Amino acid sequence: MLRIGMLTSGGDCQALNAAMRGVVKCIYNNAKDDVEFYGFEDGYKGLIYGKFRMLTGADFTGILTRGGTILGTSRVPFKTIREPDENGLDKVAAMKQNYYKLQLDCLVMLGGNGSTKTANLLSEEGLNVITLPKTIDNDLYGTDMTFGFQSAVEIATTAFDQIHTTASSHGRVFIVEIMGHKVGFLPLNAGMAGGADIILIPEIPYDINNVIDKIEERDARGSRFTIICVAEGAISKDDAKLSKKDYAKKLENYTFPSVSYEIADQIQKKTGREVRVTVPGHVQRGGQPCPYDRVFASRLGAEAGKMILKGEFGYMVSYKNREMTKVPLKDVAGKLKTVDPKSDIIKEAKMLGISFGD
Ligand code: F6P
Repeated sequence: MLRIGMLTSGGDCQALNAAMRGVVKCIYNNAKDDVEFYGFEDGYKGLIYGKFRMLTGADFTGILTRGGTILGTSRVPFKTIREPDENGLDKVAAMKQNYYKLQLDCLVMLGGNGSTKTANLLSEEGLNVITLPKTIDNDLYGTDMTFGFQSAVEIATTAFDQIHTTASSHGRVFIVEIMGHKVGFLPLNAGMAGGADIILIPEIPYDINNVIDKIEERDARGSRFTIICVAEGAISKDDAKLSKKDYAKKLENYTFPSVSYEIADQIQKKTGREVRVTVPGHVQRGGQPCPYDRVFASRLGAEAGKMILKGEFGYMVSYKNREMTKVPLKDVAGKLKTVDPKSDIIKEAKMLGISFGD
């Protein structure tokens, strides 16, 4: 008998269900022994508090195209994982206990950066763990691609497509704020796909005067409108120079809902132009996975299934240089993948006339 536990952790994204279905299909089609799947509810919380259910083939039918996660998810911050909960429960000990109580052969964890750190900790504690790279941010170290990313790029791009028509009618400056946490892959790709004139990402701090220069250059050329893609984590050159402490102090007294509104305010004051801000927000994480993600997540699931059958644990399944591979969790945990300001895509975007405000 093979017993496999699964959980989805952190912010949800498209294709979580497709990935789990991939694992299950691969195992059902290739395992020689009987198999039992256990799904932990709401991420690591389910593993800590023993909230799980046995999953059957029926649970995985019809979920290739379904967004969200059939298991539910939550954020259990890694930085507090070693701290007892409000009732004094040792969370790590509880997770191990539930794993052993169910006599699991392995745990498959679908998650992003923080969740992978916890997975690595459990692996170091002796559990058999395999992770799948999930996040719309595509910021997981050790893989060129995460599932959810391409779906989010598609949704974010439609925001730019819609804004284009109204921006051109009114001749306004429009800011579209795109998710991505502290990295710029999603804003960069959605901004380029959506024809943004200016893209501000965390890896390339901006100077507001350069942003305004670009708007004025477009005005002088007779372009009636400017579309700016602002990453939710975009940062000005001045703020980037601040120490962590001083930046945190600035944020304490911050009166804008987000950086986009601060930028809008500065543009409005300095140019007198009408500026509008659109924040698609969690829409970017919702709905059906795009075809790319359905295929990619299914492949990742099949690779995870293959690894389980071979007894290879302690890895994240990854996609590097156009090949499916695996990387040790210890080499991934705690590291962030960011946009390289010197990468070809940035150089090409600049050659296309896109300003990064630098
Ligand atoms: O990591 C995915 C993500 O959507 C980020 O892009 C965003 O910063 C964050 O999660 C939002 O988190 P929450 O859903 O907890 O508000």
